[in-house]
Amino acid sequence: MDADTHRADVDVAAAGAEAVSRNADIIGPREQAALRAATVLVAGCGGGGGVVEPLTRLGVLRFRLADPDRFDVSNLNRQACTQADVGRSKPEAIADRVRALNPSADVTVYPQGLTLDNLDEALDGAHIVFDGIDPTMSAWVKYQLHERAARRGIPVLAGMDFGGKPTLYVFDYRRNPVPFYGRASAEAHRENRLWESMRWTGSTHVPSDFLPVQADRFANGGTWPQIGYCVLGLATLTTRAVVDLLMNRRTRHVVTMDVHAAVMTRPAALLHRARMPVELLKTRRALRAATRRGPRPKETAPQPPRPLPERLATLLDGARLAPSAYNAQPWRFELLDDRTVLPAPDPARWPAADRDPLGWADSLGCALGAMTYLAHGEWEPRPPGQTEALGPVGRFHCDRLRDDVLLRQGVLGLRATHREDLLRTPLDQSTAKRIELLCAERNLTLDTVTGPTALARLARTEFDAAMSADPARDAELRAWLRERARTAKGRSSFGDQSDLLDGSGLPGSLARALHGETVQAALARPLRSAAAKGQARRLRNSGAVLVLRGPRRTVADRLEAGAALMHIWLTLTEAGYAAQPLRGEFGRPPAGLASDGDNGILAILRTGRATAAPPHRIMRCPVEGSVRWAG
Ligand SMILES: Cc1cc2nc3c(=O)[nH]c(=O)nc-3n(C[C@H](O)[C@H](O)[C@H](O)COP(=O)(O)O)c2cc1C
Repeated sequence: MDADTHRADVDVAAAGAEAVSRNADIIGPREQAALRAATVLVAGCGGGGGVVEPLTRLGVLRFRLADPDRFDVSNLNRQACTQADVGRSKPEAIADRVRALNPSADVTVYPQGLTLDNLDEALDGAHIVFDGIDPTMSAWVKYQLHERAARRGIPVLAGMDFGGKPTLYVFDYRRNPVPFYGRASAEAHRENRLWESMRWTGSTHVPSDFLPVQADRFANGGTWPQIGYCVLGLATLTTRAVVDLLMNRRTRHVVTMDVHAAVMTRPAALLHRARMPVELLKTRRALRAATRRGPRPKETAPQPPRPLPERLATLLDGARLAPSAYNAQPWRFELLDDRTVLPAPDPARWPAADRDPLGWADSLGCALGAMTYLAHGEWEPRPPGQTEALGPVGRFHCDRLRDDVLLRQGVLGLRATHREDLLRTPLDQSTAKRIELLCAERNLTLDTVTGPTALARLARTEFDAAMSADPARDAELRAWLRERARTAKGRSSFGDQSDLLDGSGLPGSLARALHGETVQAALARPLRSAAAKGQARRLRNSGAVLVLRGPRRTVADRLEAGAALMHIWLTLTEAGYAAQPLRGEFGRPPAGLASDGDNGILAILRTGRATAAPPHRIMRCPVEGSVRWAG
């Protein structure tokens, strides 16, 4: 026998010992031995796949992996797979991962998944079972797994990911050999009565920020949202529970941790928990209604007559996220072919009370800016004086989406108007440089007002201007905003007026009351002075105020201005700065920045580091409402 072969066996033993050596003193020698000797059956390698890797790293060598499914792209956010695994059988891909971690591992795969025929074989000799079977797919097999494991006295760990709260249910059938501890019936599983068969999860473990999602799924069906850090949390809890169960130690029945609450400040976490009873009541009501109504007939969403080409769909999704004065979204898009969009104004969405005849063009320009941010292409403005005033303002021919389109979609989605006080952090040099370059490329002039003295001077003049503005017009615009927010559809498409006007930082309901008709009518003057003081304070509490100047006479000028504002804003967002435009809404520029002839003020943006979270929801009209095929 040659020297090498002899060494190989020693090497395996040595490598095996070395591989888990850093467990020592956290995991005792007996525990390590139990892990080595264990056979773990993982039923369902989607959520279950996440427990296999940490168990292998901990020292488990024998696995039985079962799942009939293959990995797909939508699993990448949470399951233990890579791009290369997409399309592959889940247990086979996970088995390769185990062998890559420990070539001595002994892995049996069941690519057909667990069935009533192979269940006994898979269970025989198993020490621990991880139940990751999706109850919407094979409820009866799930029940049988528990029933037969209980008969054999094999502990089963069943994982649930409730939003940000990984929750592990430990059924130690050595101590209580009743499937699901009697909290779910065989009948409900056999007849696929989903919510009934899920009773073993209890409702008090679902966190308050996930209960509304659960209530929505009860009422409307739809896929269950799942997230990576929750699946990882479940793997962490499972791995430790396996150690205790292998040592025959008692564990809790429900092992959980609320990841969201763990990160929140104490008061926010208290509020998060305090919301439980209310959300629970709502969810129970939704569940009762869903049970009364029975299973929902499968609905297919009506197909649009001519679906949007994918490239343009991405583009228009980006355009839809663009900022617009009053969140009016005064745009509509005509599609010429699979690559050409004709943006046009939508006067129905623009307030007549706004006296700037071309005010809508700045916002349409922002939408155009969003499109050129996402795609390479050619913009052809409508020649001056051609076609009717409210027709398409030009055409954008899209060559292809930019290589980093995903990142840019992220920046577009993050960009929001920050009306809170910002940190007075001046812009860093490279961001300032990039913005200057952006303006120079468009022959626009950029003034940057920065530093406490200049900003305070600006704030002072701003207060006076605000107090001298025409209160009647303000009232007219507020009435228009109130009217727009009267319906649920109006609110979800445009938001309500406190979303726009409020920088008070008051909680939603109080802010809405403050901007309500009654309060506004009763306290118009003091509220206007409070708003003006607020605006002045916000100007002082900024890192810098960027003032963009250039020609503003034609539609093309204003479109260019809007596109420039958008690109500047996105550059700031990429660099982690927040911003708020201060022009257009209520139609007056800050007094301290007068226009000079052809070099008029196009846009004003206060910027700095954010001190508050951007609004949780993005209020926009559905894209279908603004798009149609030309002709
Ligand atoms: C041309 C233009 C002018 C704007 N003027 C103001 C303004 O004076 N004050 C303000 O708070 N927001 C202003 N905004 C921001 C809009 O209100 C905001 O974009 C809209 O409500 C959508 O919200 P979002 O930017 O958070 O997505 C303006 C936006 C644009 C495009």
